[in-house]
Amino acid sequence: LVSQMYQFEGSWQTQALLQGIVNCQKHFEANESDVILSTLPKSGTTWLKALLFALINRHKFPVSGNHPLLVTNPHSLVPFLEGDYYVSPDVNFSELPSPRLIQTHIPYHLLPVSVKRSSCKIVYCCRSPKDTFVSLWHFGRKLAPEETAGYPIETAVEAFCQGKFIGGPFWDLVLEYWYESRKNPDKVLFITYEELKKQTEVEIKRIAEFIGCGFAAEEEVSEIVKLCSFESLSSLEVNRQGKLPIIGIESNAFFRKGEIGGWRDTLSESLAEVIDKTTEEKLGGSGLKFSC
Ligand code: A3P
Repeated sequence: LVSQMYQFEGSWQTQALLQGIVNCQKHFEANESDVILSTLPKSGTTWLKALLFALINRHKFPVSGNHPLLVTNPHSLVPFLEGDYYVSPDVNFSELPSPRLIQTHIPYHLLPVSVKRSSCKIVYCCRSPKDTFVSLWHFGRKLAPEETAGYPIETAVEAFCQGKFIGGPFWDLVLEYWYESRKNPDKVLFITYEELKKQTEVEIKRIAEFIGCGFAAEEEVSEIVKLCSFESLSSLEVNRQGKLPIIGIESNAFFRKGEIGGWRDTLSESLAEVIDKTTEEKLGGSGLKFSC
């Protein structure tokens, strides 16, 4: 809910995430071999956590075997930087096997200094603003039905366009990573949910090359893609039942439709136009475009 967010140095955050950001800015030390997955909420984080986990650990956990993703929710396999630093300011990721895979929603300009200074890799994924908004809209209503009941979608769209989105303003903060990826392509790989969905195998090979663990065999690629597909992950018992530890969110809340252009079921043409207009104003001239 917008009323529960705070603006901090150019981004909107909840109090808990803000605390986590400040803690990790102070204490987190990046390693050269770290892989940081950065996204805005609802941009495909869960999917990429699964894909990257399977990719990075494919020799330790062959996809054809009894894979951890079959019995564990992706959020429990990959630590959440500012979330874990909120729970405990002394959290220590040094026990994680190398290369460490860590996820964050922190804007580029607020990342811990060591992440920017070290030669660790950042995989950034964004999603069409209309689909991201709609995904969060449904997520919020599922998680907090009472608080969100009666909150008009028109007001939510207006707030979104004013930048009031968790981890937002959406466009400004996507652009930060976009420009950084142009400036420093060895450091930041910029991908989109839409491309990942349309050509998952091509994109996962691009990611593998970027983080320095290219594939030897085509079958490996397609097995990972299949294991992490929406159909596969969303039908697993572990992702259908129960709640995630600590954050207490229902595991199945992270799997809704998993489609490109799903906004059409929720947004009227006029609300879609409001978002499109903001997108045009904000992204014009940047070279970044969304296909839906
Ligand atoms: P929808 O609400 O549009 O269905 P995040 O993980 O960043 O919270 O993003 C959640 C969105 O990613 C949801 O979008 C969810 O359904 C979708 N998603 C989750 N797993 C996916 C997968 N394996 N493939 C494609 N989309 C997936």
